[in-house]
Amino acid sequence: PPLSAIINLDDFEKAFAKSGSQKANAYVSGASNDLLTLNANKTFWQRLWFRPRVMRNVSSVNTNMRMLGVDVSMPVWICPMGIAKTAGPEGEGALGRGAKKAGIVHCVSTTASMGVEEILESGEGNPFFFQLYVDKQRHKTEAVLKQLEGLPQVKALFVTADLAVVSKREADERIKTQVQVSVYQNGQKSAVDKKGGGLARSTGSFIDWALSWDDIPWLRKHTKLPILVKGIQSAADAKTALELGCDGIVVSNHGGRALDSAPATILTLLEIRRDCPEVFDRMEVLVDGGVRRGSDVLKAVLLGAKGIGVGRPFQCSVLYDTEGVEHCADIIRDELETAMRLCGITDLNAVRGDMSWLNTAELE
Ligand code: FNR
Repeated sequence: PPLSAIINLDDFEKAFAKSGSQKANAYVSGASNDLLTLNANKTFWQRLWFRPRVMRNVSSVNTNMRMLGVDVSMPVWICPMGIAKTAGPEGEGALGRGAKKAGIVHCVSTTASMGVEEILESGEGNPFFFQLYVDKQRHKTEAVLKQLEGLPQVKALFVTADLAVVSKREADERIKTQVQVSVYQNGQKSAVDKKGGGLARSTGSFIDWALSWDDIPWLRKHTKLPILVKGIQSAADAKTALELGCDGIVVSNHGGRALDSAPATILTLLEIRRDCPEVFDRMEVLVDGGVRRGSDVLKAVLLGAKGIGVGRPFQCSVLYDTEGVEHCADIIRDELETAMRLCGITDLNAVRGDMSWLNTAELE
């Protein structure tokens, strides 16, 4: 379908499923085992309701926020996703350019299909985040951190912690054909595993499963960037991250691509609010997983999140190049502003963490 026919985020995923390669679609849309967490991420946003207020003069609304020291036009960031050239020829370049046009931030994946410097150039002058998978060969990770030091466009480091081993992605495993794109690991081009099987497995075998909380000081020694642990799935771990001096957390279950039966991210957010609410004041709390509507973004802000990541829809929008990515952001913004107006909310900053705007009856 033409871009003008795409009116919501699901439309991007549907368009990609029809037009992209089967293998690429299995990689992007797939998740672990029975897809329980993938589906729960989406449906649990749908079980949280607003408590709207009326007659509040909503003629103008403000979606600007500040996330990790960066001013953004709305609190939405593009999740790190591997090998974006499987979705379209512009790959991560489209994400970088689209993010810049939309005034939001793209988090670059360690396993991108373009080199990091080339990706940063695509969004020249715009801030980026960088997602790190720690390599079994630690010196390679240290070299990446060194490289980032010379790249001032990168404003924060998201250390992915929820994928100690690559999970079982059956759709990806069933299709044996390989995609013809290069994969970067640690800034170096690497070959895709010719033995077939899952793209995810073959690109993720370098990830260090020995990574532990004891490594936070090692990371701190090698970078001055704010460190966020991505993949927090319990209040206890949120607290540990705070105690170890991390600058933030990303509540995430890898979009259902890591542990299947991991809780929907909204449940983890609620658990953190209940068991250690101080986390929201003392660290930046970001969230991703199953966010498909501007109204989901508003719900996450009301729960206390400072930044909301959107994954698959943006990856699929690369099918339409930069214009697609921009269109995807425009749809989210339009839905967010509409939800704000209909809730009686005019400024996101004024309501962040204020759950009186929510009705959680169905989640209790
Ligand atoms: C991912 N994700 C991911 N996360 C990460 O830390 N490093 C990575 O390289 C990747 N790669 C990746 C590839 C693809 C194709 C997808 C769909 C996802 C997880 C991603 O950052 C994010 O947590 C989820 O995608 C969010 O869920 P939704 O929005 O896709 O439902």
